[in-house]
Amino acid sequence: MTALEAVAERSAAGFDEALARDVAAGLTSRPKQLPAKYLYDALGSQLFEAICELPWYPITRGERALLTRERDAILARLDDPATLIELGGGNGEKLAILAGGLAERDRAATVHLIDISETALARARHTVAGHPSVAVREHRATYAEGLRMAVAELDPDRSAMVLFLGSNIGNLARDEADRFLAEIAAALRTGDSLLLGTDLVKPEADLVLAYDDPLGVTAAFNRNLLVRLNRELDADFDLAQFAHRVVWNGRESRMESHLVSQAEQTVCIPAAGCCVRFAEGESIWTESSYKYRPGAVVELAACAGFACRAQWIEPDAEFALSLFDVP
Ligand code: TRP
Repeated sequence: MTALEAVAERSAAGFDEALARDVAAGLTSRPKQLPAKYLYDALGSQLFEAICELPWYPITRGERALLTRERDAILARLDDPATLIELGGGNGEKLAILAGGLAERDRAATVHLIDISETALARARHTVAGHPSVAVREHRATYAEGLRMAVAELDPDRSAMVLFLGSNIGNLARDEADRFLAEIAAALRTGDSLLLGTDLVKPEADLVLAYDDPLGVTAAFNRNLLVRLNRELDADFDLAQFAHRVVWNGRESRMESHLVSQAEQTVCIPAAGCCVRFAEGESIWTESSYKYRPGAVVELAACAGFACRAQWIEPDAEFALSLFDVP
């Protein structure tokens, strides 16, 4: 979103109406919940980048190691000129590993960046800009819309590879993940491919450390959502009265992140038009991160019509990169 659009979104009322609506709906539902996308304001995005550097958060490091190790095998699957389409690439660091490999071999490439965040697009563009043989196309849109926009521009005679990395698929519920992969498969053509990064099921103690680190960075990241609501919606959350808690839900194979009320209290959010009562111990559910077993990733993609061509696993991080084709 540009600064101008952000102002427009804030409307005459002086606040973001979509945020106000989502907060009112989320905090009056049971269990109370807030959409995870609101974690990523300016400070939240910086805190998330710090999380990626934490020794207890293996996702970023594991994926970076796999992309570096398997770079040539991945690039060998691309046509010339190569086409990559990245869904939600964050700071562009992972894409740069592949773009660097193409540039080293003087292979021409076009990279389509898809993100709803203008800031993310700008950072990814900047990261890839060091490679002159790689052309960049940007689509500021949701994943599904952006994918359609990118596919409409493709050369019918050249295959493309979609990148969906960082275990972003883990933030979708299982039925959403099924639907989303089916949408990608439907947008692609025979011979196109998908490179999917997924965090794997690992011992509970490791997962808890990854989502509740001893430095408290993840707690700050989660609680910053309340700082945002205080700032943007004039809410009166008392930060001292909400604690970051994570739970491993083995039945659903997911980590759940919550903000737990430390006392019985009422919080008012004037711009969302509501006051909300909390019982002591009642939580706001802010995020789920589904963890997969390697075979389950293959099955998930197979249901959407993809055929698995390769799967690489990083044993320390317990992270998988899987490469699928549209048959
Ligand atoms: N979506 C990322 C993940 O599942 C981001 C994240 C890391 C996160 N730690 C968190 C989101 C804690 C909410 C709470 O890994």
